[in-house]
Amino acid sequence: MQSTLGIGFAGAGPVTQAIHLPTVARLGGEFTVRHVTDVDPAVAATVAGRLGASHSTSIDVLLDDPHVDVVVVCSPHRFHAEQVIAACRAGKRAVLCEKPLVMSVAEADAIAAVSAETGVPILVGAMHTFDPGWRAAQAAWGDLPARSHTIRSSIVLPPNARFEDLATEVLSRPALPSVDRSDPEMVAGLLHALVMGLTIHDLPLIRSLLPRYDDLRIVDARVLEPYGYRIVFVASGKVVELHAVLSQTWEPDWVLEAYADDQVLQVEFTPSYVHAGSAVSTLSGGGEARVFGPTACNGYEAEWRELAAVVRGETAPPKIEELVDDVRFALAVADAAADSVRKTEVAA
Ligand SMILES: NC(=O)c1ccc[n+]([C@@H]2O[C@H](COP(=O)([O-])OP(=O)(O)OC[C@H]3O[C@@H](n4cnc5c(N)ncnc54)[C@H](O)[C@@H]3O)[C@@H](O)[C@H]2O)c1
Repeated sequence: MQSTLGIGFAGAGPVTQAIHLPTVARLGGEFTVRHVTDVDPAVAATVAGRLGASHSTSIDVLLDDPHVDVVVVCSPHRFHAEQVIAACRAGKRAVLCEKPLVMSVAEADAIAAVSAETGVPILVGAMHTFDPGWRAAQAAWGDLPARSHTIRSSIVLPPNARFEDLATEVLSRPALPSVDRSDPEMVAGLLHALVMGLTIHDLPLIRSLLPRYDDLRIVDARVLEPYGYRIVFVASGKVVELHAVLSQTWEPDWVLEAYADDQVLQVEFTPSYVHAGSAVSTLSGGGEARVFGPTACNGYEAEWRELAAVVRGETAPPKIEELVDDVRFALAVADAAADSVRKTEVAA
């Protein structure tokens, strides 16, 4: 093995503890955690202490640490843009930023400009985009994106805490925000947050099945109890249905489907936080079904393997224009859905 790559985590909450640290451990020395920054000093010290890494409460200290080659941004969404930009400016070898990369097109454009100027590669931790089961289907689907007429994403999950607790002893976690469901502005904000926090996992995949989305029109958008949504929109002549429910469900389910008249793609993903192999994709048509996966390598592991290959110059980094367009598409869906639900709630 070549020399280990030093990682610095900006934010060491449940995602760092229950998703990234077990994945890094599984890669067996490819990466070594050198620095943990968290605004909560107890979290920074405890997580770093488990790993023998340095710790701090300021990203400036992390960026000054010469042992850190790669910065992994796992702070809340609103800090992503400034931390990704600071890591690029500090001349680090790559940045892995949790989804969503940013919360506005202006921030996405600023990141693209800094990435072009500094040449620092940026990867976004939307693990489904790296999932070997998804990628194999994508390589085999031929002209399905042009021929498909219906795309459907359905997510039924228990709250994250159930999986976090199965993976590790999480030190602290924020409470779910309380939302006044009688206030149209709050309902619209909840829907926007759910799209940018949850649907965001599948939106880059859906975008790869949509020739364009500049004509996006919402057909139906609503928030479901206790936390969830149903959104239907039309873009480039295709119907896209998005459904999610987070409840104490007995069986998690995460499926993405694309239908053409003579071909169907069905992708079954493992839930977030679960390290149990890749998605399973089935391409059916012409009287046969081709199945891709599961492989032992899940989306998180594939994401980290691609990060290593990018840093070592073995793989081209993701195109920043594509990452920016993912942000544009996600915001187009989130903004239009929130707007629609705001109008419906006010009228009701
Ligand atoms: N890929 C996935 O499957 C997945 C799943 C859930 C969440 N996420 C994403 O991961 C990120 C982190 O999620 P989480 O649930 O751990 O979030 P969290 O809010 O629970 O924890 C983030 C941590 O960052 C710390 N923090 C806050 N401000 C900071 C700052 N300015 N600098 C450094 N640290 C700071 C907090 O103290 C906390 O410990 C989010 O962007 C979220 O959308 C990804």
